[in-house]
Amino acid sequence: MNEMDNSDKEIVSGKKGILSLPGFPIVIGCIGKNLITLAAISMVSFDNPPLIMIGIVPKRYSFELIKEVKDYSINIPTTEFIDDVKYIGKISGRDVEDKFKATGLTPVKASKISSYLIKECPVNLECKVVHTLDLGGTHTWFVGEVVAAHLAKDYDRSKAFIFWPGQFRYVGDVIEI
Ligand SMILES: Cc1cc2nc3c(=O)[nH]c(=O)nc-3n(C[C@H](O)[C@H](O)[C@H](O)COP(=O)(O)O)c2cc1C
Repeated sequence: MNEMDNSDKEIVSGKKGILSLPGFPIVIGCIGKNLITLAAISMVSFDNPPLIMIGIVPKRYSFELIKEVKDYSINIPTTEFIDDVKYIGKISGRDVEDKFKATGLTPVKASKISSYLIKECPVNLECKVVHTLDLGGTHTWFVGEVVAAHLAKDYDRSKAFIFWPGQFRYVGDVIEI
């Protein structure tokens, strides 16, 4: 095989290629008091200012809300809340008035934004929308400045999980330090 030959691989769609990334972090977003499961999340800047972005499909109820509310919280769940992640990722706020009540999760008032935080999640990020990016395609991106962050003292990152299209997975074993 010469160096120009890539024929041992299959030509697939761009979507299938993107879905081959090794997992997407799973978080629960809260906009106002409406909860949404999100895998489209990415860091934009670690500092000065810290920025993160979430991708929301325009037909979602959350999409209408975020334009009005202009802030959101990001909450990192642990695996014991996997059923809530699935429920929140399936049921629209258009059909269920209060997903906190429906799941039994506890809303906590944030310190710097109007959207609520989830008490049961060991990490909560308070984000103010500073840019909205409609770049075409499936998701519109809401870049948020992280104006406050709450981290449980006993946070164990290995209890968080990722979406591995078709299934949920733990993050995995240490390979090398
Ligand atoms: C694992 C998983 C990941 C998801 N990721 C996203 C996402 O990144 N963006 C999005 O718009 N919807 C995503 N969804 C779908 C929404 O969570 C779902 O449609 C939800 O019911 C929307 O609620 P809403 O209509 O109240 O906004 C995901 C669902 C699941 C199960």
